[in-house]
Amino acid sequence: MKNIFITGCCGYIGSHTSVELLNEGYEVIGLDNFSNSKPRVLDAIYEITGKKIKFYEGDMLDKNLLKKIFTENKIDAVIDFAAFKSVGDSVNMPIEYYINNVSSVLTLLNVMKEQDVKKIIFSSSATVYGESKIIPITEKCSIGGTTNPYGTSKLFVEKILQDLYKADNTWGICIFRYFNPVGAHQSGLIGEEPNGVPANLMPFISKVATKELKELKVFGNDYNTKDGTGVRDYIHIVDLAKAHVKGIEKLKKDSSGMFIYNLGTGKGYSVLEMINAFEKVNNVKINYKIVERRPGDVAICYADASLAKKELGWSALLGLENMCKDAYNFTQKNINN
Ligand code: WQD
Repeated sequence: MKNIFITGCCGYIGSHTSVELLNEGYEVIGLDNFSNSKPRVLDAIYEITGKKIKFYEGDMLDKNLLKKIFTENKIDAVIDFAAFKSVGDSVNMPIEYYINNVSSVLTLLNVMKEQDVKKIIFSSSATVYGESKIIPITEKCSIGGTTNPYGTSKLFVEKILQDLYKADNTWGICIFRYFNPVGAHQSGLIGEEPNGVPANLMPFISKVATKELKELKVFGNDYNTKDGTGVRDYIHIVDLAKAHVKGIEKLKKDSSGMFIYNLGTGKGYSVLEMINAFEKVNNVKINYKIVERRPGDVAICYADASLAKKELGWSALLGLENMCKDAYNFTQKNINN
C-alpha cells in the first residue's frame, strides 16, 4: 500500500499530512481546487521533502476528474480532507456547505466503489459530539446535537460511512475526529492561512502579535471553567499529520473494518492560558478585550485520546510552547501573503 490519494492536499491539514507521508516513503497523488489554499503550498511541500506530489487541480464534485485520477494512478487508499470548515460561514451558507462537504464525499465514495478502492481515512471533527456531558470525551460518547451546518455535515458523512460499511464490510474506514489543530511546520513554509479575518483563536492571536490585527476579542469569561473562558484541546498540526500515517498503517494491517479515533492531546487549555503561553514563548504582548459569548460555542471540549494510543500506537508529543512558537513563526514569515 504505497500510493495515497489526498483530497485537499494543499490545505492546512492536507499539506502537513502530505509532508509526513512523503517523508515516510509514500507516493502522494493530490487534488485541490484552491478554494481555501494556495498553489505555492506545492512548492513548499517540495522544499520541505525534496519530493513532488502528483497534483491535479479541480473539484471533488467533478466525477469525470475523479475517474481520470483513479484510472491514471494505482491508488491504494484515500485521505479525504477537502471541505469547507468555517463554523460561522456554515450558519449563513448551509446549502453550499452540504453540497461541498457531503455531496462531494458521495461522489468520491461512488468512484472508489467503481474502481474497487475501499480504504479511506475521513477527516471528521470533535464538533460531532455537540455539547458533550462527559469530559474528557471518548469515542463512545454520543454524537449528534451539532449546533451548525459545518458540524452537521461531518456528522452526516460519518453516518454515510457507517451505512456503507454495514452494506459492504470489505471496506477499511478510519474516521478521525480532530479537536483543535493549531501551529505549523517548524520550517514556517506551511501553516494555517484562513481566507480573510481568522475565525479560530490561534491564527487570530498570531495576527495580533504581528500587528496585522489590533486586538483579540475573548468570547466570554463567564463559563464554568478555571478562569471563565472557553477550554479546548489544542493539538499541534504536525502531531495530527503523523496520526494519519498511523491511520494508513492501520488500514494496511487490518485490511477491512470501521475505526473511529479522537485526535487530541487529552489536555484542555483556556483562552487566557493560550494567550499567556503565546506571550511567554514569543515574548510579545497580546491586546485583548473580553466581550460576550460567541453563539454556538461550548464551554469545555477536550479528548480522551487513549484509544488512538492503544490501537494506533500514536499520541501527541508537541506541547503548547511548540504550538505557539510554530504558529507565530509561520505568521511572521507569511505576513500579507
Ligand atoms: C477556540 C476558543 C472561542 C476566536 C472550531 C470548529 C472545529 C475546528 C476548530 C475545523 C473558543 C475562543 C476564538 C476568537 C475567542 N474546525 N475564541 N476569540 O470553535 O473550538 O472549534 O475550530 O476543523 O471543528 O468547531 O475553535 O479556535 O474558533 O475557538 O475567544 O477570536 O477560543 O470562544 O473558546 P472552536 P476556535
